[in-house]
Amino acid sequence: MIIGVGGASGNLGQAVLRELQARAGGHKVIAISRTPETAPAGVEGRLGDYDKPETLAEAYAGLDRLLLIPTSDMRPGVRGDQNIAGIRGAVAAGVKHVVLISAAGTRQQEEPAIGASYWRGEQELIRTAPKWTVLRMNYYAESLIDEVQMSAAQGALAGIAENRVAFVSRDDIAAAAAGLLIGDGHVGAIYNATGSRTYTGAERAALISEITGKPLGYITVPAEALRAGMIQAGLPDFVANAVISIQSNFADGALDIVTGDIEKLGGRPPKDLRDVLAAALKPAA
Ligand SMILES: NC(=O)c1ccc[n+]([C@@H]2O[C@H](COP(=O)([O-])OP(=O)(O)OC[C@H]3O[C@@H](n4cnc5c(N)ncnc54)[C@H](OP(=O)(O)O)[C@@H]3O)[C@@H](O)[C@H]2O)c1
Repeated sequence: MIIGVGGASGNLGQAVLRELQARAGGHKVIAISRTPETAPAGVEGRLGDYDKPETLAEAYAGLDRLLLIPTSDMRPGVRGDQNIAGIRGAVAAGVKHVVLISAAGTRQQEEPAIGASYWRGEQELIRTAPKWTVLRMNYYAESLIDEVQMSAAQGALAGIAENRVAFVSRDDIAAAAAGLLIGDGHVGAIYNATGSRTYTGAERAALISEITGKPLGYITVPAEALRAGMIQAGLPDFVANAVISIQSNFADGALDIVTGDIEKLGGRPPKDLRDVLAAALKPAA
């Protein structure tokens, strides 16, 4: 089988390539992005740019299965257009089975909501792909680590409301994606890659505090105050809006979902959040 990975040079894409290479099966793997020269040894790199749809016919030629990993572009409308371009390119190139990475809690939302790009992608995929699967990811544990490092000075994690999130490590999402790509029986399925339990804001702050030995709280602040703080810190408007949009998803319970899909698809249980955090945050002995 020839398996393409779109977004292969990114964090998740690299992890998917590693997981595919670790699984036997004699499949040929193709790494697709704007930087095909980053493909690891043993993997063919191909240029494919969602913003230049004319590049996609060659990028996707001959693929049996294609994983589409959306970009991290937070400008309103951009990622949605890229997702549509990728799916149309794949269908036009005759890819037999297209797998889309999407987000937990995806539902009908309009731009500039951060989830609109995933909603548009899922809808286009389901409507047009000959065979499709969606893998919705919960919130990255690695993004929580970034948040902890950015919040260290203020001594608290902040949100617009209490919430529950089933943080999942990127490597576990990658394992699920790889298992799905080489496995059978997943056509027409929507999976949720999640951690094994949810954590409230207060629970994750307490867990981090325990790991680092430094006090850390969880505070709720009105969305406008959070937004103003980010603008004051120099973040561009669209990034501040994207963060508020993610916070709204948290508050709505969009990430409050736990499944066994990582183990089912990836063949191993998801890593415990404590272990992922400890590996990154534990003070040197
Ligand atoms: N659930 C969560 O908590 C969470 C957290 C962070 C990110 N995410 C999302 O998860 C997805 C993957 O994350 P990641 O960390 O792997 O992102 P990443 O490291 O930024 O990777 C993005 C990939 O997209 C490629 N790309 C960018 N622009 C492109 C274009 N115009 N055409 C084709 N490829 C393009 C990049 O490659 P080149 O630049 O080499 O082309 C790269 O391979 C993104 O949608 C991101 O927003 C989710």
